[in-house]
Amino acid sequence: MSDNKMIQIHSPLDDSIVGAVPALSREEVDAAVQKARKAFYGWKETPLNERTEIMYKAADLLVQHADALTELLIREIGKDRKSAKSEVVRTADFIRFTADTAKSIHGESIQGDNFSGFSKEKFAVVTREPVGVVLAISPFNYPVNLATSKIAPALVSGNTVVFKPATTGSLSGQELVKIFEEAGLPEGVLNIITGKGSEIGDYIVTHPGINFINFTGSTEVGLSISKQVNMVPLLMELGGKDAAIVLKDADLDFAAKNIIAGAFSYSGQRCTAVKRILVLNEVADQLIDQLKVEMVKLKVGNPLENQVEIVPLINTKAADFVWELIEDATAKGAKLIYGGKREGNLIYPTLFDHVTTDMRVAWEEPFGPVLPILRVNSIEEALEIANASEYGLQSAVFTENIRDAFYVANRLEVGTVHINNKTERGPDHFPFLGVKKSGIGTQGIRYSIESMTRVKATVVNLK
Ligand code: NAP
Ligand code: G3P
Repeated sequence: MSDNKMIQIHSPLDDSIVGAVPALSREEVDAAVQKARKAFYGWKETPLNERTEIMYKAADLLVQHADALTELLIREIGKDRKSAKSEVVRTADFIRFTADTAKSIHGESIQGDNFSGFSKEKFAVVTREPVGVVLAISPFNYPVNLATSKIAPALVSGNTVVFKPATTGSLSGQELVKIFEEAGLPEGVLNIITGKGSEIGDYIVTHPGINFINFTGSTEVGLSISKQVNMVPLLMELGGKDAAIVLKDADLDFAAKNIIAGAFSYSGQRCTAVKRILVLNEVADQLIDQLKVEMVKLKVGNPLENQVEIVPLINTKAADFVWELIEDATAKGAKLIYGGKREGNLIYPTLFDHVTTDMRVAWEEPFGPVLPILRVNSIEEALEIANASEYGLQSAVFTENIRDAFYVANRLEVGTVHINNKTERGPDHFPFLGVKKSGIGTQGIRYSIESMTRVKATVVNLK
């Protein structure tokens, strides 16, 4: 490696230096892509049962390293202990399920004579092929799980991977790659490239050696990438503004518990966090009473010291943005129900009532612990506001009436609707997708494997 400049990774908890990663040069990015290309031909020919055995081994190693990885996640991205440990264990399950699924995906054969004018002398053998070199770019908030949600389906399908972790998350990403290597991945099959996306991102995404881009991150960056690439397939999971719609017959205590858990875990730094409440006016006051009961239970502080839900946000830029939304809502007359306090990058869980559609927090993604309540007078008004969002990741609807639940679900312009549950990605074998500016394509284990493979038809003509 050349005499790289190193990027110091600072903990969001106390700004201490957690470690450092090299800022790769363009030449080093080229070398990583070339290694992936060279390794592809051998890896795609590796028997599936050998590829899956490496996956199972990686899952076992992940569990063996769970405690050390948990501690690193806490320090590197400020995630609470429960969520950090859950991320690692969930990832091992993800990998195992991916290997199992890969073994169940088969091609097909198609007879020619079921089409007019053709005979049994012609038939097609249809198989699925890996696409080649996959560029996997992951966000800061799940540096193990969301990286693996790209890497494992890509690898088990016979692709090779160039992996660009979020800079804050790169240390965890490096440990993840070491685990896959220890599990037996051949040289060049998985290649990590570290460096700031703002510096090498455009170079990587337009690199001629990349055959597929699997990106998870902000809509802003996703849009930038999609404008630059030509004929390179994209799989993108982007921002969201998930609405929890509460109808008049909802179980309000149950809804409140779900909404608070969905909005404030890891300080709301989840794409599928509940990011707005649309509640029928006639039950709004009662819901708010229940929400306040649940908010009081939220623990705030340093995840190294205690199990807490509310932690310092990932950086000052993120905290400043959330605070801007809070100040805008306050200035425009939103009623502060709870919170509205900041200590450095720690923002206390904040709940606003009487949020109106002229306020930024009604539409913008905070990626932080602020939750707006918009009161509506009908289901139609709730649907109109929900669908007016530029995002379309997920929504939740709380009601005891299954007919109303499906009426709402059928009309929401999102990838996933949860009936009587908070918005969330898991379980990981379910389809996971965003529409509009929340994404392109579908993740979820089988869907990811299918996305990162393509069909090949071998047509046999008997003489
Ligand atoms: P981000 O700032 O968009 O960064 C995501 C990844 O893209 C990072 O690895 C980043 O590297 C890289 N990147 C930055 N600029 C780039 C460029 N010009 N070209 C290529 N790559 C570039 O997002 P984040 O702050 O990590 O995560 C928060 C956002 O991601 C939120 O909007 C959230 O909703 C979204 N997200 C969505 C999902 C989902 O599944 N839908 C899941 C998690 C997060 P650097 O770190 O070096 O900048
Ligand atoms: O923001 C990460 C996104 O994938 C959320 O995952 O499982 O917390 O809903 P989850």
